[in-house]
Amino acid sequence: MLEAIFPKELLKQEMSGERFVQIPEEIRDVYRLYRPTPMYRARGLEKALKTPAKIYYKYEGVSPPGSHKPNTAVAQAYYNMKEGVEKLTTETGAGQWGSSLAFGGAFFDIDVEVYMVRISYEQKPYRRVMMQLYGADVYPSPSDRTDVGKKLFAEDPECTGSLGIAISEAVEACLKDDRAKYSLGSVLNHVLMHQTVIGQEAKEQLAMVEEYPDKIIGCVGGGSSFAGLFEPFYYDKVMGKAPKEVDFTAVESTACPSMSAGKYMYDHGDTGRIIPLVLMHTLGHDFVPDPIHAGGLRYHGMAPTLSLMANEGAINVSAHNQTDTFEAAALFTRTEGIVPAPEPSHAIKEVVDEAIRCKETGEEKTLLFLLCGHGHFDMKAYDDYLAGKLQPYEMPKEKIDASLNRLKAMYPEINK
Ligand SMILES: Cc1ncc(COP(=O)(O)O)c(C=O)c1O
Repeated sequence: MLEAIFPKELLKQEMSGERFVQIPEEIRDVYRLYRPTPMYRARGLEKALKTPAKIYYKYEGVSPPGSHKPNTAVAQAYYNMKEGVEKLTTETGAGQWGSSLAFGGAFFDIDVEVYMVRISYEQKPYRRVMMQLYGADVYPSPSDRTDVGKKLFAEDPECTGSLGIAISEAVEACLKDDRAKYSLGSVLNHVLMHQTVIGQEAKEQLAMVEEYPDKIIGCVGGGSSFAGLFEPFYYDKVMGKAPKEVDFTAVESTACPSMSAGKYMYDHGDTGRIIPLVLMHTLGHDFVPDPIHAGGLRYHGMAPTLSLMANEGAINVSAHNQTDTFEAAALFTRTEGIVPAPEPSHAIKEVVDEAIRCKETGEEKTLLFLLCGHGHFDMKAYDDYLAGKLQPYEMPKEKIDASLNRLKAMYPEINK
């Protein structure tokens, strides 16, 4: 059934039990524009925090669209092209994913149609322009182009949209067009696997300076960037090859705490319930998070593999609010010179807290985090931060409980 929306090769990868999948030369050719990405030691941040911890970060913002997302976008565009697909539909939250798929589509001559979460469409007009420059068509979601969008708009004309809604629209648009397949920028196994190029490079780069992390930290929306960084290290750990004990922390937004406050249940990946049920941490598919600036973290679900690991205690989870994360981002900008995207600023906040803990205990830990994108298109968010206008959204427990109760009532047999 999934062949209606995905090409065969990506489905093969989705279900594959292979340890490694070779990266085709045509994909490497595009990767060469920005890979290998740099690994930095954050000496300026270390000094400002007066911490004995060593802080390293892998920077994916050097890709032309500005984040880790092209690692899978280029691969997905390539495999679709190989199977004769002429058009890809997709959703985008922050605009990073849409820009990346538009970039990938441009290299492999595929039309790209993007449903952009309405709040981001309004907050980040220049992301839209970038997608259009790469040749994509961009629509604010909910839109009047799909049945799902029309219905939601009729119910709430003020709807700011969500990734769950935009996914439903993109899948519906794909199913209505014979030339098209659908492309997802996170959550799925093949997407996470494409991102592991990050962790494989990171391991080699740290080995060059004879380092191995004690702690790996990354932000999570659907989980692809964090998994891309930590899974090659996790592999060392489970194979007994890690030279020391290493732990992993996923950081989410308090406005959309899928793993820290959601439940491990069967749910749909999209609001319109077109996508089959998956077992994951979720806040419920009709949950519309507050309009935080980290649009990429406004997703109700989480990658099933990460959810399983969190459930089994293989990874830790924490959450931060946007006022604290922007403060950490501003400190990072002043000490390291790079303006981070709002999403990885959640990881930076966690790193700052951990480095301060190290100062208190005197531990000389080696921390590694993923700076998965720059914030050059997020100046409206930074402007709001500087003007003191940011809200530290924290999703009330009653709203989450109500959403999860609706989900339980919808599928009482499997969600007890
Ligand atoms: C810069 C950036 N970081 C993180 C994310 C979250 O996605 P994921 O958890 O799959 O990396 C997004 C998603 O749009 C993003 O644009």
